[in-house]
Amino acid sequence: MELNGKRIVLGVTGGIAAYKSAELLRLLVRQGADVQVAMTEAATRFVTATTFQALSGKPVYVDQWDARMPNAMAHIDLSRQADLILVAPASADFMARIANGMADDLLATMVLARDCPLLLAPAMNRQMWENPATQRNVARLLDDGIGMLGPASGAQACGETGPGRMLEPEEVADAVVDFFVPKVLAGRRVLITAGPTFEAIDPVRGITNLSSGRMGYAIARAARQAGATVTLVSGPVALAAPPGVDRIDVRSALDMHAAVLERAAAVDIFIAVAAVADYRVANAAAHKLKKDHGGVPTIELVENPDILAEVAALADGPFCVGFAAESQNLEAYAQAKRRKKNIPLIVGNLIQDGFGGDDNRLVLFDERGSHPLTPASKSVLARQLVDHIAKLTGPN
Ligand code: PMT
Repeated sequence: MELNGKRIVLGVTGGIAAYKSAELLRLLVRQGADVQVAMTEAATRFVTATTFQALSGKPVYVDQWDARMPNAMAHIDLSRQADLILVAPASADFMARIANGMADDLLATMVLARDCPLLLAPAMNRQMWENPATQRNVARLLDDGIGMLGPASGAQACGETGPGRMLEPEEVADAVVDFFVPKVLAGRRVLITAGPTFEAIDPVRGITNLSSGRMGYAIARAARQAGATVTLVSGPVALAAPPGVDRIDVRSALDMHAAVLERAAAVDIFIAVAAVADYRVANAAAHKLKKDHGGVPTIELVENPDILAEVAALADGPFCVGFAAESQNLEAYAQAKRRKKNIPLIVGNLIQDGFGGDDNRLVLFDERGSHPLTPASKSVLARQLVDHIAKLTGPN
């Protein structure tokens, strides 16, 4: 429920993408937002007000002179209560009107009368988007401090292909969540490792572990939402990269080591969440091992480089955060790892809670002692960890 307590006006203007706004509304409500829908007259030609009324559980407003507003001040009453006005889809015509300060229908009047931020998710035919008049309006709206979500590029309802598609409802909803997160890491460059590594035995077999990547991906998303530029070096996992995060896929600990060391000197913060294999196979076979050739194979192991310890040893390197998954003696083992790797902060988790699932139980250990976090979902814990790192690293 990342939008709990947030009051959002969802403006819907006339365009075929209006059908996506019904799903967007559902996603915002599901995240706990209190959503008031206002439509332009043209929008009602594409989707009825009844749809939005049913999904929001509130009356939908279209007409500036709606008699349901006792004081005939719908534009003031509705926009003044909002934490955000989001217009999705925002048509070329609507953007032209508000770029010029016009107030010729309820939604445009609400936008003009607002004292909260405004986000637009444009949707239109590619030629309308590329038209110099629209581009002038977009530049003016950006100058006015209005946020622009998209548009995306791709196949359009008119059969053409190009820029102008409204972002998908999930992308707009994610952007709204991001919008409300305090930007405690604004301007910081953060490098994160996540997931397991895979150490090949032969071309089709290997040694790995049960890390799903969820914890590291949640931290990447939280750091991005907090305003950081995030690079995620990921072992093999079945997760999509969080929006706005630069993901680099690796397989083995040596690949991860190379990808991290290439970038570590240029970042401010390094967070090592990956469950890196301590050992790799020294005698990995070039061809698939055959069961009936040469008896039981012997696997020889050789130690992998310690990525975190090497980054921590860099002169003028980033602020380093490690993770320690332990099955017992969490504090003693985690603190010992922190000192051995010479890092200011380590995050301990008991392995029965950490691997695989959505939830986790974390304790932060630094030189002053321990800070247990209340057990929660990995995304909630990721945000708390990011806040803690922001406090420890101070203002940019
Ligand atoms: O991916 P999930 O399913 O969400 O699970 C998350 C997690 C349990 C994997 C994660 O929260 C976690 O605890 N990761 C660290 C696992 C661990 O205990 O690693 P370690 O004790 O081997 O290493 C300690 C630290 O050094 C870790 O930050 C690790 O990334 C780093 N390390 C370790 C070995 C190595 N060769 N290079 C490293 O950088």
